Amino acid sequence: MAGCKRIAILTSGGDAPGMNAAIRAAALVGRAAGADIVGVERGYRGLLDDAFVPLMPGDVSGILREGGTILGSARCKDFHHREVRDKARGILANRGIDGLIVIGGNGSLTGALHLADPKEIGSGAPLKIIGLPASIDNDLGMTGMSIGVDTAMNTIVEACDKIADTATAHDRTFIIEVMGRDCGYLAMTSAIAVGADLALFPESGKPESAIIDQIVQTVLTVRGRSGSRRSRRVLIIKAEGVAVPTDRLKQLVDARLRDHAPDADPSGIETRVTVLGHVVRGGRPSAFDRLLGSRLGNVAVRALVAGDSHKMAAWMPQEDLPEEIGARSPFDPKCWLVDLAAVLAETENLLSGRSPLTRWRAGAFDEIEDALLL
Ligand code: F6P
Repeated sequence: MAGCKRIAILTSGGDAPGMNAAIRAAALVGRAAGADIVGVERGYRGLLDDAFVPLMPGDVSGILREGGTILGSARCKDFHHREVRDKARGILANRGIDGLIVIGGNGSLTGALHLADPKEIGSGAPLKIIGLPASIDNDLGMTGMSIGVDTAMNTIVEACDKIADTATAHDRTFIIEVMGRDCGYLAMTSAIAVGADLALFPESGKPESAIIDQIVQTVLTVRGRSGSRRSRRVLIIKAEGVAVPTDRLKQLVDARLRDHAPDADPSGIETRVTVLGHVVRGGRPSAFDRLLGSRLGNVAVRALVAGDSHKMAAWMPQEDLPEEIGARSPFDPKCWLVDLAAVLAETENLLSGRSPLTRWRAGAFDEIEDALLL
């Protein structure tokens, strides 16, 4: 396997805290291993604009503390078209790039796989690619964590702790919506971490009426408890992927609660809603995300220098995988290089609920909620 001599790095899709750590590690380790390393601005969009920038040690010094990505990011729907990818391959070939590191989520890594598809490349200049999982949604298969998830969870926990103070003071019910696209991971895990009373996530597959019932039952149970004041506030974490819009949920729940307590002061029983939105995606990366980005950046660039391709660098400290799917990186015993096509297939399973992991998560949450309401 001929190793890559000139490697480009791009960040694509929704930014994630820790992307900069990955860029920095790949740039420094790649250069030390004898490769030329350059950056591409604004993901695939910048690639199509031939927007390359140097990534010398001075360009990446200190960046691992910064949120977002120094290279910028974008979503590029045009990349679904073969002729657009042909243009991108032409630009990479003109620049003498033989290896590409794509740092991003599901859509970005799918783009990378198509870009390096030997059938599409034909007799063109060969291109090797390695993907790095980076998305706060944690919706990629075959990696325990994606870059950015830990920071996002910490941001949610900090915000929810603040909301819990005011909710407790007023005995209120809060529905807090968190990002995650079609994946409930952030809602589920942060609900545990903040001690929420309920987590609503798309993987449960519950219809609107069941969700309303669940919220109302939770509110009535918690508010009906005697004892400490703290127990009368209700925190509900809702994943943005739940099909019922949060404002509609509020209206329907408030109406049902009024039916249950027609004489109550409405301000006492009405729910309050906080949509955390893009706040969840920003901020300085946590120590974990700085380490994860650095480790995966190291593994990815070394793989390209060694001539490997069509893989994703993954974080799986404990698990074992069949040989045909992947192998532990010789450069980091906690990281794997897994077949990118297999990652994307497993990602589909995760999102469609076919994966045993998704079914386990949904089942585990039903049990946790039952326990909370006892
Ligand atoms: O994929 C990351 C993510 O932040 C999702 O959680 C969210 O649904 C989406 O991106 C928002 O995308 P945009 O910033 O393009 O609105």
